Amino acid sequence: MDTAIPAPALIDPFARAIRYLRVSVTDRCDFRCVYCMSENMTFLPKKDLLTLEELDRMCSAFVRLGVEKLRITGGEPLVRRDIMTFFRSMGRHLDSGALKELTVTTNGSQLERFATDLFAAGVRRINVSLDTLDEQKFADITRWGRLPQVLRGIEAARNAGLRVKINTVALKGFNEDELFRLTEWCAAEDMDLTFIEVMPMGDIGNEDRLGQYWALSDLRARLSERFTLTDLSERTGGPARYVQLAQTGQKIGFITPLSHNFCESCNRVRITCTGEIYTCLGQEGHSDLRGPLRASTDNTVLEDAIRAAIALKPKGHDFDYSRQAVGGKMSRHMSHTGG
Ligand code: GTP
Ligand code: 5AD
Ligand code: SF4
Repeated sequence: MDTAIPAPALIDPFARAIRYLRVSVTDRCDFRCVYCMSENMTFLPKKDLLTLEELDRMCSAFVRLGVEKLRITGGEPLVRRDIMTFFRSMGRHLDSGALKELTVTTNGSQLERFATDLFAAGVRRINVSLDTLDEQKFADITRWGRLPQVLRGIEAARNAGLRVKINTVALKGFNEDELFRLTEWCAAEDMDLTFIEVMPMGDIGNEDRLGQYWALSDLRARLSERFTLTDLSERTGGPARYVQLAQTGQKIGFITPLSHNFCESCNRVRITCTGEIYTCLGQEGHSDLRGPLRASTDNTVLEDAIRAAIALKPKGHDFDYSRQAVGGKMSRHMSHTGG
């Protein structure tokens, strides 16, 4: 039964309360970002995916166990067939008060179609991944994406009443020269902006992680040449730390898994589209929840499996570029767990 009384949180072995669930609803994507996927990806057979009904049961179990923030990811979540049915159905947990936020991380390609429906389902804030405002560079880095379509999507989202945060992976030699352009664009459009350090996820061919890595401490120093930065204490429940720029009033976030580890305050776990739970983005350890989900209509079997998985949550990732080599690399792609 759904309840408005906050449930006691799931607590991991390091006394961290798990209140944030990221659910990947598909491993497929209509882009092929060079740091995320190889050109020729093999995707999972559709029969291995949790059905929308199973996704609902899974997420609802987590909500009963105290999860307050639900982020839908992929691949690209909005390419999953009939995904709005799932969003609408999750909206009931917002109505009951059990869930405080229902949100999505998207590449923006399908927003023109779905922005209004997302808002109607109770989504108020979305994160859109966008690394460059240059059409050719956008086509290069996403391989299959086209910038004008994404910009139209962002506009549709804002017209629908959604608050938009832009996620930009900081890439040396790629978007360094766009730091101020991106910042000023977000200020002009009243969007938040978060930079992310590139993580060593997935074997993606000849990509050079060390060469791509642009430490956000350096990016921040460059920003402060032109703007006055004030650290903000506010948190969204995600890993970003925010600053405010005095001159524009806008908020800029930094996600720094490499230069500053934030694992000690980790409050999240991830479900893949086949029902595996990954309790850390940067570790291989995972448990199967699809088996327990399908084994019984009695939700206690599933809930026990969730508790058992969270009891195995590791302390943190081992990503490390500091020894001039890539440490802590993960073989799975980012699209497997949706970031
Ligand atoms: P809000 O703070 O609610 O805006 O969201 P968020 O930052 O939690 O979500 P978003 O999907 O925008 O996450 C941005 C990226 O941060 C992810 O795609 C990951 O690349 C990275 N990230 C999120 N959580 C973790 C984490 O636990 N560990 C690491 N290393 N990176 C993470
Ligand atoms: N390192 C950092 N961020 C990544 N993303 C995808 N692959 C990587 C990586 N290797 C980002 C996307 C998107 C989010 C889901 O994860 O750009 O913003
Ligand atoms: Fe698709 Fe996002 Fe990966 Fe790009 S980063 S290929 S948009 S899942």
